[in-house]
Amino acid sequence: MSAVTPSKQVTVPEFRSAKARGAKLAVVTAYDYVSARLCDEAGVDCILVGDSVGMVVQGHPTSLPVTLDEMIYHTKCVMRGARRALVVVDLPFMTYQVSPRQAVRSAGRLMKEAGAHAVKLEGGVRMRPAIRACVEAGIPVMGHVGLTPQSVHQMGGFKVQRDADQLLADTTAVEEAGGFAVVVESVPADLGAKLTVAVTIPTIGIGAGPNCDGQVLVFHDMLGLYPDFKPKFAKRYADLGTAVKTAVESYCREVRDGSFPAAEHTFR
Ligand code: KIV
Repeated sequence: MSAVTPSKQVTVPEFRSAKARGAKLAVVTAYDYVSARLCDEAGVDCILVGDSVGMVVQGHPTSLPVTLDEMIYHTKCVMRGARRALVVVDLPFMTYQVSPRQAVRSAGRLMKEAGAHAVKLEGGVRMRPAIRACVEAGIPVMGHVGLTPQSVHQMGGFKVQRDADQLLADTTAVEEAGGFAVVVESVPADLGAKLTVAVTIPTIGIGAGPNCDGQVLVFHDMLGLYPDFKPKFAKRYADLGTAVKTAVESYCREVRDGSFPAAEHTFR
């Protein structure tokens, strides 16, 4: 059961204050009605409509091609399935980096057209003006530091980030700018712990060790549904990829040998 509120809609202030109460936060990504509903009913505190949709749903090698209109579409689907969880939505690449005004416009579309509760954007120090502008416009912002996948080419790949000074500056910048939480991706566990004590907002780790205030996993990674790659930090809680393949193989066999449809699937 959720550590935030057992049955009511989780709000941004409740999510933020979970840290002070020592309650760990469970976050998972979702991109459609069914996955959102399943995660919501399972009791996650927050659903992240991640731009990882570009990789695990659209089949791109990175998240860079994802558009704002696509995020709006996926968010609308998720909002129909999420009844209790806080829904945070990624601003995709090049929809906020140009200027704080662009960030507010893009974030505003996610809130107004899709019904998002909050947005997430990548970057700390560099993104301080954009975070501040969104927050001043009434839009709650979750930051994202460490490995920031939209900068994959600048970083030279999906690599563990070890620059302690930069990570500390980025994490504290998110808090100073008014962010209500910060994702910390792919950093050594001792650094994840240091960043967590450095801020009063919750750190949500993904490959950042056990001492973060919460954890986030990509839906397809935790369920064995993404065949291309499994990051070291992703625990597989089920192997649904194999289950789906076995089921579809059985269906093909039964269609071909005539045993499906049987009497109980047939109208008289
Ligand atoms: O896009 C995404 O799913 C994310 C998570 C990996 C944190 O940003």
